[in-house]
Amino acid sequence: KPAHERMSNRSFLAFIFFFSMFTTCLYFIYAAPGIANTYFFMVQAQGIMLRDNVRTIGHMIRLYTNKNSTLNGTDYPDGSNSSELLIQPTTFLPENFTYAQNLPCPERLPSMKGPIEVNMTEIPIEEMELKFSTFFDIKFGGHWKPKDCKPRWKVAVLIPFRNRHEHLPILFQHLTPMLQRQRLQFSYYVIEQTGSHPFNRAMLFNVGFLEAMKDLAWDCLVFHDVDHIPENDRNYYGCGQMPRHFAAKLDKYMYILPYSEFFGGVSGLTVEQFRKINGFPNAFWGWGGEDDDLWNRVHYAGLNVTRPEGEMGKYKSIPHHHRGEVQFLGRYKLLRYSKERQHLDGLNNLRYVARVSLHGLYKNITVDLQPELAPIADY
Ligand SMILES: *[C@@H]1O[C@H](CO)[C@@H](O)[C@H](O)[C@H]1NC(C)=O
Ligand SMILES: *[C@@H]1O[C@H](CO)[C@@H](O)[C@H](O)[C@H]1NC(C)=O
Ligand SMILES: *[C@@H]1O[C@H](CO)[C@@H](O)[C@H](O)[C@H]1NC(C)=O
Ligand SMILES: *[C@@H]1O[C@H](CO)[C@@H](O)[C@H](O)[C@H]1NC(C)=O
Ligand SMILES: *[C@@H]1O[C@H](CO)[C@@H](O)[C@H](O)[C@H]1NC(C)=O
Ligand SMILES: *[C@@H]1O[C@H](CO)[C@@H](O)[C@H](O)[C@H]1NC(C)=O
Ligand SMILES: *[C@@H]1O[C@H](CO)[C@@H](O)[C@H](O)[C@H]1NC(C)=O
Repeated sequence: KPAHERMSNRSFLAFIFFFSMFTTCLYFIYAAPGIANTYFFMVQAQGIMLRDNVRTIGHMIRLYTNKNSTLNGTDYPDGSNSSELLIQPTTFLPENFTYAQNLPCPERLPSMKGPIEVNMTEIPIEEMELKFSTFFDIKFGGHWKPKDCKPRWKVAVLIPFRNRHEHLPILFQHLTPMLQRQRLQFSYYVIEQTGSHPFNRAMLFNVGFLEAMKDLAWDCLVFHDVDHIPENDRNYYGCGQMPRHFAAKLDKYMYILPYSEFFGGVSGLTVEQFRKINGFPNAFWGWGGEDDDLWNRVHYAGLNVTRPEGEMGKYKSIPHHHRGEVQFLGRYKLLRYSKERQHLDGLNNLRYVARVSLHGLYKNITVDLQPELAPIADY
């Protein structure tokens, strides 16, 4: 074949090639941006949803790759600044620190070592009582107070209860040495619900609070689920300027905060803060929602929630089934009116009659809860 023919064939192929390139370019310039934008939007939307978890996971990876940094920790405020997750070293007092009877107990004591061995073995309560009265110097009724310094906080630990007798000793076994190492004055109140109504965790806390205040001028309240076992004794159970969410990382949620407004499991408020928000709502019958309502109350009162940083906020939950506990399906409706209900429903509309008895390790407050005990007008 003559050279010019081969040449024209080749130019034809080149023309085809450049033409397709050109159309492809046109396609990307005019059509693709839409597609690309949609794609990026989807990625971004996913990113927004996953952002919190990714941040938590990234944080956890950092902790796991440098275990040493977990020994030191600091508090981070409620908020979403990732630089807050960088671990800032904080000091615990040295081993040779000397206590003084007339001075307040420090918050970061050398006795607080960090991770606690969690042992879920069930033990009879009588065995616990004996052990605690002899080795831990717990007074009948579950009261304890440090002798070598003045307790910084007087803490009433309120535990709502129904049908979980095997959990109580496990909780006391872990909590008692921890609170003693933190040099807090404390008492346990087990508030048991009888009757056939669904479990009302929030109302039990309100009853427990009113009963506990008859004993002593507590200044700090810890609202503690019976099946949540702390894994770190540096999770300080004293109160602060702001309400505190102690149970930031639960093993059942893979140690990730399920959502940033999560306020369940174990939380703490000063008596002053608790009165200011009118306590817990009484209208949540059944499982779920009352902790979210408490979160709303706290924020409507102009307060923020703080959480322990890193490993300190870890908890193990005692495995169980939600035995006969029903979910509260009306919770979403109530949560929409948190603000309006805050001053109508809570400590101020609660009436109750409780049977109170003293046990070795705790005070037993038994109430039969009925919706009529906390009347609330329509709004
Ligand atoms: C952790 O600390 C130990 C002793 O304090 C040290 O030997 C080790 O190298 C440290 N590890 C890291 C990852 O910093
Ligand atoms: C995050 O924290 C850094 C340093 O603490 C601060 O400079 C920055 O403004 C913060 N960013 C936001 C969005 O709060
Ligand atoms: C904890 O913090 C103190 C003070 O910043 C520091 O001296 C100590 O080395 C830290 N411990 C670890 C294990 O990082
Ligand atoms: C306590 O121990 C530290 C070193 O760990 C030392 O610097 C300090 O002098 C000691 N204090 C007393 C009162 O012994
Ligand atoms: C857990 O506690 C039980 C009862 O006190 C005890 O017999 C057992 O040895 C403990 N297990 C561990 C691993 O410490
Ligand atoms: C609570 O946090 C918000 C946002 O982080 C802040 O604007 C507000 O001032 C805080 N409130 C108090 C009482 O500290
Ligand atoms: C509390 O006391 C009631 C009787 O008033 C009793 O039936 C119940 O078993 C007790 N609960 C606990 C946890 O001790």
